Amino acid sequence: MKKNKKKIDDYKIIANIKIAPDYYEIELAAIELSKKFNPGQFVQVQVQENTTDPFLRIPLAIHATSSKGIKLLYKAVGRGTEILSQKEKGGSVNLLGPLGNGFTTDQVIKNKKAVAFIVGGGHGIAPLYSLAQFLRQNKIPVESFVGAGSCEEILCETNLKKCGVEVCLATENGTKGHRGFVTELLEKSIKNNKEKEITVFACGPRPMLKEVVRICKKENVPAQVSLDAYMACGIGACKGCAIATKEGYKLVCKDGPIFDAQEIDWENES
Ligand code: FES
Repeated sequence: MKKNKKKIDDYKIIANIKIAPDYYEIELAAIELSKKFNPGQFVQVQVQENTTDPFLRIPLAIHATSSKGIKLLYKAVGRGTEILSQKEKGGSVNLLGPLGNGFTTDQVIKNKKAVAFIVGGGHGIAPLYSLAQFLRQNKIPVESFVGAGSCEEILCETNLKKCGVEVCLATENGTKGHRGFVTELLEKSIKNNKEKEITVFACGPRPMLKEVVRICKKENVPAQVSLDAYMACGIGACKGCAIATKEGYKLVCKDGPIFDAQEIDWENES
């Protein structure tokens, strides 16, 4: 894992496009940042200019690297992300980052038999795609399990395939792939691939993560989860993102957002 210093700076917008209903991808000219972050880390995005409304920055995972910098994937759901969605090519946004810890990949990369299973629910695929890019660059086989409510909300399918990742899809309404939950595909695949040395990396809604953790515990497969939380500062100062772990409370922004799946006290986390 790279050691990197957080930095605050303005970055030029290369593109800001709608990729699905309510979902956008913004590309920023941030070459230096693209080389120094660890997949799973995030940035705090300031969307306002010359005003303090909205007051807080938006935490967004670094979704991808490109030849020109980085991409962030976000859902336009509140005032901050609505403002972000209206920003145009040529403008700029201020970022604080990279923040948080990132996925632990050293053991996976060293292991010639390793296979990574990435499990993304909805826009939970955001931090997992940059992880997939990184693992593929290191010749690690990656299989992805991508779930959504319906086919319109499936994100990243084409990009994952382009980077050599096998893609298994699930939609709750059955409009694409398996009808049901993505965790059902994961469980079946782990059972069918007992000979492989699998590590699971997951991000998505809490019920999905809890099911991933249950499956991985039962099948004795190591898993890391990326958690989201209400974040005000993003740097460990406000204590607003505390989460219950088996070793007491930890901060999602500073100790995470990536945690070993078995480390979280899933009974008491909110
Ligand atoms: Fe402030 Fe985590 S967001 S401590």
